[in-house]
Parts: sequence; C-alpha cells; structure tokens
Amino acid sequence: GYDISALLKETGNVTLDVGFVNTASCKSAITYIDGDAGILRYRGYPIDQLAEKSSFLEVSYLLIYGELPTSEQLAEFTAKIQRHTMLHEDLKDLLAAFPRDAHPMSVLSAAVSALGTFYQDSLSITDKDQVELSTIRLLAKLPTIAAYAFKKSQGQPTLYPDNNLDLVENFLRLTFGYPTEDWTPNPVVTKALDQLFILHADHEQNCSTSTVRLVGSGHANLFSSISAGIHALSGPLHGGANSAVLEMLDTIEQDFGGDVDKFVEKVKNKEAGVKLMGFGHRVYKNYDPRAAIVKNAADEVLQALGVDDPKLAMARRLEEIALSDEYFVSRKLYPNVDFYTGIIYKAMGFPTEMFTVLFAIGRLPGWIAQWREMMEDPATKIGRPRQIYIGETERDYPSA
Ligand code: ACO
Repeated sequence: GYDISALLKETGNVTLDVGFVNTASCKSAITYIDGDAGILRYRGYPIDQLAEKSSFLEVSYLLIYGELPTSEQLAEFTAKIQRHTMLHEDLKDLLAAFPRDAHPMSVLSAAVSALGTFYQDSLSITDKDQVELSTIRLLAKLPTIAAYAFKKSQGQPTLYPDNNLDLVENFLRLTFGYPTEDWTPNPVVTKALDQLFILHADHEQNCSTSTVRLVGSGHANLFSSISAGIHALSGPLHGGANSAVLEMLDTIEQDFGGDVDKFVEKVKNKEAGVKLMGFGHRVYKNYDPRAAIVKNAADEVLQALGVDDPKLAMARRLEEIALSDEYFVSRKLYPNVDFYTGIIYKAMGFPTEMFTVLFAIGRLPGWIAQWREMMEDPATKIGRPRQIYIGETERDYPSA
C-alpha cells in the first residue's frame, strides 16, 4: 500500500534492497561464486579439487592466510592447534550448568562468547599476534566445545582431547568415545567428515558471515563476532536447514505414510507450512556444486557403514521430482549443500540437533578469514544500513 518511489524521493539518495539481493557490502579476495554456472572456488581453487585432494586444516590455512601451506607450514599450524584443544576447567563448569536438553547451537554460541572472558589476553583486534592467538584458540577449541555439548545432551562423561590425533579424529573421539574404552577411528567416517568440513568452510557473504563482519565492523573482538555468527547460522533458512531436512523427512514418513509426491504437492500449493527444506539458494540458480559432491559422499558413507536408511530413498525421490517438476524448475530450485548432509551425519551417529553444530565447525575458518580480511582493509567502515521510514509523521503527545 506504500508508494515506495515517493518514499525514496523523500528519504534522499538511499537504495532499498531488502535481503541485500543486489547490494555488495565489501570487496573480498577469499571465495568466488558464480551462481549461474554453479562454480565455487576458495582463493581460486575449485571446490571439487579441494574436496578430493586437500584436508580441512589445509583449507583452513588457505582461507585464512591466502595460500596453500607448505608441508612445514601445515605441520606448524597443526601443532599450534593441537596445543590449544583443551578447555579451561572453569569453562567446563559453565557448560555443565546448561540444561541437558538445551540446543547445542545455543550452548556453542554461549561458550564461544565466554571464551572472551577466559582469554582476555587475546582480545585486541589490532595486535596481529593476539588476533593470531584467538584464531588458533577458536579453531582448536570449537570442536572440543561441540563434543562436550553433545556429551552433555547424552548425559555421558567427557574426555580430554588426545593431541596425537588430527582435528577430525580428535573431535570424533571426544564425541563418540568413552573414558573407559580405547577408541579406533573409522577411516571412512573421518575422511567423509573432513570432506564435509571442507565443503562448508566458506561461502562468501552469506547470512552468518555477514553477521560476523557486521558485528566485527563495530570493532567487537573475534570471539564475540564468531559467537554472533553461530546464532545467525542456527536459523532453519540458513545452517539450520540441514536438521530441518531430516525433520521434513520424518514428517513425510509419519504424516504422509512416506508418500513423497503427496508432500511435494502440498509444498507447491503452499499448504505444507514449510518450503522444501534443502532446496533453493539465493545465489545458486543452476546447481549447488557442493550438493553433487555430498550426494556421492552419502552413497559411499552409507554403503561403507552398512546403513540402509529408507530416508535416502525418500531424499532421492524428492530430488527426482524437484528436478523435473515445473514449479521447481521455473523457480530454479535445486538441492543445496544441506540436502544430503543430514543423511550422512545421521548414518555417522549424530543426533539431528548436532547437524548445524557440524556446519559451524566447518564454517569457522571462513568466518575467521572474512573477519581478518575486513579488519586489515583500511577501507572498512562500521556497517550501518539505512532504512525507508514508513511510520507516523510528527504528532503531539496528547494533553491530559
Ligand atoms: N521449496 C519450495 N518453494 C521454494 C523454496 C523451497 N525450498 N525456495 C524458494 N521457493 C519459492 C518461493 O516460495 C518463491 O516462490 P513464489 O514466488 O511462488 O512465492 C520462489 O521460490 C523464490 O523464493 P525466495 O524465497 O524469493 O528465494 P530466496 O533467495 O529469498 O531464498 C532460500 C533462498 C532461503 C535458501 C530459500 O530457497 C529456502 O527457504 N530454502 C529452504 C531452506 C534451505 O534449504 N536453506 C538452506 C540454504 S543453503 C545454506 O544456508 C547453506
């Protein structure tokens, strides 16, 4: 009912771009996406090559420092991270105080926020050594915090990190191991999780990364900025979509007797109350290159683990319908990275609430790289969008 052009004229030289569909907020040299062609590159390297040949820590290094590490640089980076995996014992008390049924994303964000109280020696945003120390602390401690949040939710005892293991193995042991038992890594699970972390490691100016930048643009420290990013990621339209996919498959099973076609009809008629979770993307209008890799990984992991999940068949049918149905085709809605990840995480033994936590561990190096790039850019200004005011004009407070 508003005359937007009249309002714009009144407000002056302001662009209205709800959801920042066309507005760039920064220049960045980290991640390149061509949504129409389905291309994703980190620092110039195609995502499929990194997923096949690299490791999560190597990709973390690449994103944060701009180049692939030499073997010495990678060894040094790995050793630094391994030295910081432990949590302060008092931080563990804080984790213990959360209710057992708390959502692990809330616990994760609160604990990262609390890192700023335990590590006041690395809060400077201008001292390069302190930023580096906070970077290492975050990369090392986030998996430990995530595993502790999981243990808490299960009522199980926590373990201390074993720094002879690599980052992903350590996380899996902290999550699924028991203090009374030896733990042997399953190489299929370790490799698949490492690859999934690579696929999630950065995605330029998405909702959570833009949040990290916006909070940091006011010169908030790295821990506070990342904590805010975790909250942004938790929403079902963003990182929370990976658990929403599994919840949707549960609904199809329970309320639609597994009849995928019937459910899709409801979605198309906008009667289901939800969109097709795991489909659609603001930028990819061709296909999400990560989804193709994840789809293959889902087949391999389920086969290797001997898991026969009827949800995989339902997911395949959903994809089949969406790729041929006029509603989805005309709107360019393709499976996104979150569509198949939940099925893999479930096969690995993670409960649904942990799926978005896994996304956060993967996305952390991207958030850090983007925050650091912004802080080092002399052109950076505090983020401060404008608005078009549509409220009351001036009126007087009523006299008694
Ligand atoms: N299922 C059904 N219809 C959809 C879907 C979907 N998943 N996504 C978009 N549409 C429809 C919309 O209803 C709209 O149709 P209409 O014009 O008839 O109303 C049209 O497609 C355009 O959709 P927008 O909402 O304008 O697309 P936008 O770019 O704003 O949203 C988003 C992108 C949020 C990802 C959306 O597609 C969505 O909600 N998907 C489901 C949740 C999801 O999977 N999120 C994960 C994204 S990837 C990530 O964060 C890692």
